[in-house]
This record gives sequence, structure tokens and C-alpha cells, in this order.
Amino acid sequence: MKEELITIQKDAIEEIKNVTSEAELLKVKSNYLGKEGKIPAITKNIKDLSIEEKKEIGSLSGKVRGDIETAIKNKMEEIKSKNTKKITFDHTIPVDEKIGSLSPVTIVAKKVTEALEKMGFIIVSGPEKEDDYHNFEALNIPADHPARDMQDTYWLSTGELLRTHTSPCQVRAMEKYSAPLRIAAPGRCFRNEDIDACHENTFFQLEGMVIDENVSINNLIYVMKNILTEVFETEVDVRLRPGFFPFVEPGFELDVKCLICGGKGCPTCKNSGWLELLPCGMVHPNVLKMSGIDPEKYSGFAFGIGLTRLAMMKYKIKDIRELNSGDTRVLGQFGIK
Ligand code: FA5
Repeated sequence: MKEELITIQKDAIEEIKNVTSEAELLKVKSNYLGKEGKIPAITKNIKDLSIEEKKEIGSLSGKVRGDIETAIKNKMEEIKSKNTKKITFDHTIPVDEKIGSLSPVTIVAKKVTEALEKMGFIIVSGPEKEDDYHNFEALNIPADHPARDMQDTYWLSTGELLRTHTSPCQVRAMEKYSAPLRIAAPGRCFRNEDIDACHENTFFQLEGMVIDENVSINNLIYVMKNILTEVFETEVDVRLRPGFFPFVEPGFELDVKCLICGGKGCPTCKNSGWLELLPCGMVHPNVLKMSGIDPEKYSGFAFGIGLTRLAMMKYKIKDIRELNSGDTRVLGQFGIK
């Protein structure tokens, strides 16, 4: 066991040294330290050893785990610092008084991704021009399924389409990383909508997906709560009701009490007092199967946050059209930096 632990440590440190991306590093971490990893596979046998051996192997395995964790942490910092562009400032240039600001959608996207990263999610992206398979078919929405009508689609002459939601990123992530998996994918979506105060034809969503053994609805609710606390920094009224999406079962709609009218009813919430913000649910076994994941072993949840609407609620923006208007006075008015 001692030799095995030393070999594992050597192999892990070597692999960590050679990875070049965050995703590869997380895969190595899971291979060695994850529930099914090499270290737990050894330490679960410690209980069968003599007291003396238990002491020796127990402390060695703790040291090996610690060394691997430190190597992973250092490598993660190295990768992150390489990804951060170095900006140099010229302090002699006069200050432009019309300093710009980030879009409210960018700010909430950042808040949500930061909250998710703290929970071990990795951030991925997918193409805006999608194919039928990833946007519909692999999400349990075959051709002629009535659920396709819920998302009025811009079809391209090639037979491809502009993605109607960020859910194809789930499929691409399952294909690329398989299980276990914890990803978030923010991005732009397109639907041929009748535009009003809360519907645009171009808007942002953020997809989240967790796949592992024994994932439950409790885990889903925990993540949803964390996201909302991080974004609103205060208590908000929410309601969870059943919702239908062919790729989850059961499915839910999480609505926020309209922060523009306080729930009384206004054009932003279509006079209902509530705004659909965060549909979610447990991943349908067909979806796992289609992407090559065994639904007998793994379960998971997924969610699709309406990021544009989240920004509207956070910054009390009454009309979604203001966000796509390109009018710089809009950003100036919110004074967001
Ligand atoms: C979906 O798009 C599903 N893919 C979400 C999902 C993911 C469900 C994973 C389950 C599991 P829906 O069509 O309801 O669901 O859109 C999700 C959110 O996007 C809505 O709650 C809303 O906040 C936002 N949204 C949808 N259409 C528009 C639009 N035209 N303009 C602005 N926001 C929109």
C-alpha cells in the first residue's frame, strides 16, 4: 500500500505538471481525489490493517492527498494567471469623464458564474449557430414534438439554426466530459418572439448542469438559493411550481415576485405579479442515455436562468428593449461600474 501511494503521488504530480487547461486539471483532480478516485480507492482499505499499519498508512495517505491538493491549487493559479490578460495603464493620459460601464447583464452573469465556481462548477461555452441534434433531438425533443413550438426558431438555409436556448451546452458538455460533471454556460439565445416589455428576440440565458451519483432535488434547490442570494444580496420572494420541459423530469419553474411592482402587476410581469426566471429540473434519463451516460448509475439536475430578466429584476429595468437599444444613456442612468 505504501509503494502504491508513493507511485500514485508521483503519477499525479507528473500529470498535474503537464495539464494546460482548467478542465483537464479538474479531470485529474477527480481521477485522484474524487469519490471514485485513486486515493479513496486505497484509503477505503485502511480499516482492514493492523493498528500500527493504520497509523503509518493513514498519515502517509493524508500527506499524499495534501501534496496533490497543493499541486492542483498551484497549477490552477498558474492557469488562471496565464488566462488573465496583462493590462498596462498609462497614467499620463487625461481621464475621460464619460467612463463607460458594464452591461447589467454582464454584471449578473459574472455574479452567477462566480457563485457557481465557488460550488465547483466550470464555465463552458457553446456555439450560437447550432444544429438540430444539439438544440432539440439530444434534449428529448424529436422532430414534430409539440415542445418545439414553445421556442419559435430562426432556421438557417443550411438546415442549422440560431440556438433557442443554452441547453445545447448541456449536451456538448456531456459529450466532452461525460460524468461526473458540473458545468455552467452563459450565452446569447435567439427566438422569433413578439417583442414586449419582457420578451426580446435576442436575450441571454445561463445553463447549469450537475451529474453525479445520488444527485437529488435538494441539491438543485440548494444551488438555486445560493445563486439568488449572491445576485440579489437580500431576501426575494420566489415560488416553485411544476413546469414542463422534455429534457427534465420532474421539471419546475422558479418565479421571482416582480421587483418592479412588488407583485401588484405591471407590464414587465404581464400583470401577473411574478416573472419566470429560472426553469429547472432533474435530467431526463433519455438525455443521459443519448449522451452516453448510464442513468442507472448517474442522476443530475439542470437549470436555465433567464439572465436578461435577472438583470431587469436586479436593477429594476422596466422594459427589456432598453437593454438592446444601444443607447449609452441607458447605462449612464443605472450608473453601474
Ligand atoms: C428554456 O429555455 C429551457 N432551456 C430552460 C431549462 C434548462 C429548463 C434546463 C430545464 C432545465 P424557457 O423557454 O422557459 O426554458 O426559458 C428560460 C428563461 O429564459 C425564461 O424563464 C426567461 O427568463 C428567459 N427567456 C425566455 N424567452 C425569453 C425572451 N424572449 N426574452 C427574454 N428572456 C427570455
